Amino acid sequence: MKKKRCLMIGAGGMARGWIRNFYPNFADRHEIVALVDIAPKPLNEQGDFLGLPQNARYTDLEKAFAETEADYCTIVTPPWAHRQCAQLACAHHLHILMEKPIADTWEDVVAIYRAVKKAGIKCTVMQNYRYNPTMYTFREVLRSQRLGQLNYLMGRFAADYRTYAAWGAFRHEIPHSLLVEGGVHHLDMLRNLTGSRCVQISGWEWNRPWSSFKGESNANYVMKMANGVVAHYEGTCSGTGHQNSWHREYYRAVCEKGEVVIDSDNILRLVMRDNTTGALTTEEVPLIQPPFQGHNYVIDAHLKWLAGGPKPETVLEDNMQSNATMFAAIEASAKSKVVDVAAMVKKAAGRR
Ligand SMILES: NC(=O)c1ccc[n+]([C@@H]2O[C@H](COP(=O)([O-])OP(=O)(O)OC[C@H]3O[C@@H](n4cnc5c(N)ncnc54)[C@H](O)[C@@H]3O)[C@@H](O)[C@H]2O)c1
Repeated sequence: MKKKRCLMIGAGGMARGWIRNFYPNFADRHEIVALVDIAPKPLNEQGDFLGLPQNARYTDLEKAFAETEADYCTIVTPPWAHRQCAQLACAHHLHILMEKPIADTWEDVVAIYRAVKKAGIKCTVMQNYRYNPTMYTFREVLRSQRLGQLNYLMGRFAADYRTYAAWGAFRHEIPHSLLVEGGVHHLDMLRNLTGSRCVQISGWEWNRPWSSFKGESNANYVMKMANGVVAHYEGTCSGTGHQNSWHREYYRAVCEKGEVVIDSDNILRLVMRDNTTGALTTEEVPLIQPPFQGHNYVIDAHLKWLAGGPKPETVLEDNMQSNATMFAAIEASAKSKVVDVAAMVKKAAGRR
């Protein structure tokens, strides 16, 4: 099969991982034919690693799109640059594989969604956390209905980012830092585990004077899902106690016949209470190893889609739901009200 040619946009922190750790696993199906970054240092570091000639290294996005023969682009720039990249991809009819979040404003998310639909291109959004063995197995336990139906779900992220730049300097500067850069993963995970979409959300995001962030770096929200499940999200970048940082988040699903729990030790447990004796049973669940994990899972799904295979789970129209939940959360906090997420998505999709 002919390799898919990729225009790689971004050569910074996360893109370095894409270029050095993830994309080499797909060398038989894909090749990076050009690289763009506005900063020459990472551009040349990753360009050297890839062995790209100077004329395939760009600091100018428009020039890169105009001169590169590619099948798709990968967008790994900060969220505020996603719209420009995606709109150029649409104008040049290149498919898109992009890092989360879709964008840093709902206006930009909607603009990207409409441009992609109009251009008729394929667009997949990275949601790597769904495909780590722990959360992949957690979801399989819920889907199997081994503990009956899901009642409600709790999610917790807590990281000690009290030192400035502990989470990358830009995240300490931007508004809504927790929700835009972190919460979108957790809200997507809550959707993923409930097997549904959020229809209403209420709660608050906030900052405290002693935090190392300028934007809101704490969040507490309650979500009503379309299938009747209620989900709760607790997040903080000022975690001063028990840590549930990246890859070690806490999730607890309360089901008809017991609970599914994961905490920072990454052991997946079922906890079941005997209703007559009161005895508690705890069972450790062996983890399923998906064929590809994390980023690799989504890259594989995207490349298969480009080659005529099925749509990945995290395509743009699906991921819109997670981004809508995030921007509804921001509005819910600003206005202290319950926000109708379903109506937001309907309006964005141009449906009455
Ligand atoms: N999925 C995950 O687990 C995960 C983890 C970290 C970051 N991310 C996402 O990856 C994206 C990038 O984050 P990062 O941590 O790599 O940021 P970063 O600041 O380390 O790197 C971003 C790079 O983009 C470049 N850039 C900025 N504007 C550009 C433009 N207009 N055109 C071309 N290049 C431009 C910068 O010069 C920089 O080198 C974000 O969307 C972030 O949310 C995802």
